[in-house]
Amino acid sequence: MAPTISKSVARTSVLIAAIRTYLSNKLVSFNNDALYKPYEQPLVKQYAKYCYTNPVDLCSDVRLTIIDPYALFFIRHESSPDILAEFFHTLPKFKPTVDQDPLYQSLISSGLDVSSVDSIAHFFKSSTTSEAQIMQGWTLLFDEMISNHVSCRTRLIDEFVLEGVSNGIKQVVILGSGLDTRAQRLPLDHSVTVFEVDVAEVVEYKRHVMESAMLAIEPISKAKNVDIKEDLRYLDTWTSKLKESGFQTDKPSIWILEGLLMYLQPEHTANLLNTISPMSSSGSAMIIQTTGVFDRTVPNYFGKNIFQQLAEEVFIPAPRPDELLTNIGFTNGLTTLYEKDLIKMYGTPGAVYQDPCTPFQRFTKSYKP
Ligand SMILES: C[S@@+](CC[C@H](N)C(=O)[O-])C[C@H]1O[C@@H](n2cnc3c(N)ncnc32)[C@H](O)[C@@H]1O
Repeated sequence: MAPTISKSVARTSVLIAAIRTYLSNKLVSFNNDALYKPYEQPLVKQYAKYCYTNPVDLCSDVRLTIIDPYALFFIRHESSPDILAEFFHTLPKFKPTVDQDPLYQSLISSGLDVSSVDSIAHFFKSSTTSEAQIMQGWTLLFDEMISNHVSCRTRLIDEFVLEGVSNGIKQVVILGSGLDTRAQRLPLDHSVTVFEVDVAEVVEYKRHVMESAMLAIEPISKAKNVDIKEDLRYLDTWTSKLKESGFQTDKPSIWILEGLLMYLQPEHTANLLNTISPMSSSGSAMIIQTTGVFDRTVPNYFGKNIFQQLAEEVFIPAPRPDELLTNIGFTNGLTTLYEKDLIKMYGTPGAVYQDPCTPFQRFTKSYKP
């Protein structure tokens, strides 16, 4: 049987891939070279053969589109309908706001019964449901605000990696890597190694899907890509495997903790960061994504749909992200960016967004002196 992803936190990586698929499809549908970087051109060209060029409209700012040509292959995989269906089950309090949501209306007219999560799940698992309907099903789970969030975070961290590599860093370590495809889609040369650590089922699922995805779309990266199948809470195990796989503690490294720390208890976060520090030589760089303390007085604080549930039920806030990095000696160039900062950096100046950008996700980066 083909590998799949069954655990709830692990499955969030597929949801992020669905959002990146949607954003990539949207980018291609604009057919505007000015929207992508020169290195992305061969990827966009190859991807155009596979993407859906009629994506649903969840992105009002054309500049907030990105290319991750591999994300679609996860959403097209045979396990996608089951994972999609399970999202409706695992969030029992989620109730589709059918009356207000045109996305549901077109699926209802093609047979979706929204009377219960079971009936929704049944529709997506049915053999008569088309690939286009599955694709549209994924978009029921997110909205413009979360699409903007994923676009901005992808760009910010892509730039962070490329800047570190252009400064001579050759080791990139992605913790809780999920379905990250930077090791394939960024212009990295053969001197760079991208280490990825995630639990076994995510790594196995990813490798399985990427085998055929890379045959369809040739990676532009020449970097070596190393997998570590470990739970990051078992510090001795994953760090030993990292070093056995060629990671050198006396050379600088780039650490990426994207979409990870909100799933770890504070003591696990502290232990993880304390473990990374002695493995990071001078000049090492780190970027972390954290969740702020919830402020329910801010309208539309969590956004809509599934993320409202995820945030309240799953996310663990980290009140002081700056301290997380300074406490472990990453004190140079400390910067924390909020969503509104990222929209200023990457969006169209003066663009009006349908939803205010979520204020509770932030990105903190710094360097080790
Ligand atoms: C929301 S996904 C983010 C994936 C990727 N970093 C991205 O931003 O696209 C969260 C990932 O963290 C991984 N993760 C969570 N807790 C973990 C742990 N204790 N050990 C290893 N991986 C973990 C999950 O398996 C999942 O792949």
